[in-house]
Amino acid sequence: MVTSVLVTGGIGYVGSHVAVELIEKGFDVHLVDNFSNSSVQQLDGIRQIISPSKSVSFYEANIGDTEKIQKILREQNIKAVIHCAGDKSVAESVLMPLKYYDNNVGSSISLFKAMESCGVSILIFSSSATVYGIPKGIAISEQAQTAPVNPYGKTKLTIENILNDLCRSGSKWKTMNLRYFNPAGAHVSGLIGDRFDNHPSNLFPIICQVLTGKRENLSVYGNNYDTADGTGERDYIHICDLAKAHVEALQFLLQSHNSPIPGALNLGIGKSVSVLEVIRAFEDSCNLQIPYKIETQRPGDIGKYFADPRAAQKNLSWTPQKSLKDMCRDTWRWAQNSASTTVDEN
Ligand code: WQD
Repeated sequence: MVTSVLVTGGIGYVGSHVAVELIEKGFDVHLVDNFSNSSVQQLDGIRQIISPSKSVSFYEANIGDTEKIQKILREQNIKAVIHCAGDKSVAESVLMPLKYYDNNVGSSISLFKAMESCGVSILIFSSSATVYGIPKGIAISEQAQTAPVNPYGKTKLTIENILNDLCRSGSKWKTMNLRYFNPAGAHVSGLIGDRFDNHPSNLFPIICQVLTGKRENLSVYGNNYDTADGTGERDYIHICDLAKAHVEALQFLLQSHNSPIPGALNLGIGKSVSVLEVIRAFEDSCNLQIPYKIETQRPGDIGKYFADPRAAQKNLSWTPQKSLKDMCRDTWRWAQNSASTTVDEN
């Protein structure tokens, strides 16, 4: 019996890569997205990547549209949901908190109510390391204090708490919160990746803008942090390694009858690299030059943190395989392919 899975935000950066991994693993995959931060090209990319014998269905819908989601859950006999839909800009969340609480939290509640009314109670949630706020140590385990300092991180923790309460309510809910550190890279085909035509704030999409001539140079936000070269350090994890962890987490929930389920797992590689190291990795692996200039620190940034990934590696029998240079090479291939097929939104 093939397991039917619904991926919300299914043509977004994470959702599309999760969809490809699920399809390749033999799941019956259905995608829902409202195109708020994704494009139909990404759906075309998924369909070009998957084997000709496989298929994937797509529904344009808001996850807050309970009736539409109930219809999909029933029509496709959905067994589990991987919930990736949500706004993800830290900076925007500070300026527009209501948009983030309404879309991220409000729509998630609608999704969970639709699921409950249809008897669907298995869910993997796309959470974030931003739930930790300003970490006390630099290797962050799931036991670290959660104290988000921006609305984006607060919405992620609120949704985690809702799911934890559902699991504790004595109902059949089985969920897992996957806390992403810094996803980067793209599928090796170059057909899906992280958009960079929509005013990104993250490092890799902005480097894509520089590499494709949409931005003159990269602003390096600060070189006076307490790090090896003074620039900010993060735990970058290849998006395909991250997607594989979602498949393992789903299989864990599907097979876990009485075994304890970890509430949250950190998805990172367990070490950090600096902005200048990322620039050098691009230049070495892709034979490119990335013009940059040192600017002042970005408000809200911190110098360095990375995941303690042992719990995820143990519980999911999963270890990230791809290197920083893989992230750079795959990002560059995606940027070249994407720049040749999309029109900038500006
Ligand atoms: C990485 C490093 C910057 C841009 C974000 C969000 C959230 C989360 C993780 C999922 C930092 C530096 C960046 C630039 C730079 N994802 N930088 N110049 O801030 O760690 O967190 O990603 O939840 O989206 O919390 O990621 O890519 O913005 O920054 O120097 O133009 O690159 O200072 O050191 P961040 P980022």
